[in-house]
Amino acid sequence: MKTTFDKDKVLIFGLENEDNLASKVAEKLKTKISPLQIKKFSDGEWYLRLLETVRNKQIYIIASTCAPVNEKLMLLMILVDALRRDNAKCITAIIPYFGYARQDRRNNAREPIAAKLVADLLQTSGIDKAIFTDIHTDQLQGFFNFPTDNLSATTIILNQYIDDLINNNKNLKLKTSDFVLVSPDYGGVKRIRNIADKMNLNIAIVDKKRLDSNEVEIENVLGDVANKHCIVVDDIIDTAGTMVGACKLIKSKGAKSVTCICTHPVLTGKAHERLSEAFKEEWINDLYVSNSIKIKEEFLSLKKIHIVPLEDFFAKIILADQNYTSYYSVCQGYIDSFIDKINNLKKCKKKKLN
Ligand code: R5P
Repeated sequence: MKTTFDKDKVLIFGLENEDNLASKVAEKLKTKISPLQIKKFSDGEWYLRLLETVRNKQIYIIASTCAPVNEKLMLLMILVDALRRDNAKCITAIIPYFGYARQDRRNNAREPIAAKLVADLLQTSGIDKAIFTDIHTDQLQGFFNFPTDNLSATTIILNQYIDDLINNNKNLKLKTSDFVLVSPDYGGVKRIRNIADKMNLNIAIVDKKRLDSNEVEIENVLGDVANKHCIVVDDIIDTAGTMVGACKLIKSKGAKSVTCICTHPVLTGKAHERLSEAFKEEWINDLYVSNSIKIKEEFLSLKKIHIVPLEDFFAKIILADQNYTSYYSVCQGYIDSFIDKINNLKKCKKKKLN
């Protein structure tokens, strides 16, 4: 597989001019993001202009539609409009975090389905295909009439977790049955089931009831968590109500350690307060997130939050795209690597016993 691409034919864009995931991916690909002029009119409207021609080029935009969600979404759409009007050949939007994804159905009468509307708007703006990471539900892809892929960043984060576990515990003796993958709600069961099957791990499920959009009630855990290293997996950590509630319960049921793996660190509302308490009380030992969303300054001081970079992954995905090879073989690499690491732990144990 080629490890680079023709820079005369391919351009990478972000929604900011520097220090973001897009520029880090471009750096991995030994190029730079294309420059944009972005400003605001005094009434708040965006102004955007491409600063180089995109005529007949293949475009990759790397941008999460995270907070401020409406601002980012509008900026993304007018960028796509500018690219389309300047005759770009093909526009691929890599949207690691897709805002509005949680509003994918009508839970109550007189509600909109905002995720579908946003999908329609993106389509109208002129995107040709989109790539997401751990989009809230797989079915969301059906809202788009152009090709989409939903790739898992969870397995990348799991690799970092196991590396840290090994590096911090030199004489570690573990087997797969010492780990349990936990879903903090019923909605996430498919997410952990997929990973658990591939990695031969047991699962547990926390029984969560949502009281309103920002409050949850957590009562039971289904499955065996006592004396296990519990890895609680979710797509999003927002107000941290779900995670902290689930981890507190798991710890009270005798978990040996509790590690959270959340791809998208939305982190709003009471998240800081809740996580600070959870780390202090040791309901959560560590929280791993990706850099799909730039983490807020105040959270950087919470030493138990680990940020796993995704630039290498997205660079590989762009190269796979350029080489017409499967994205899924890139993803499989991370799964194989995790399984190898767990198997090595077992081998170490056997060696010690002999
Ligand atoms: C819900 O279905 C999602 O997967 C997350 O569990 C949820 O968005 C997390 O929100 P919060 O951190 O506010 O509980």
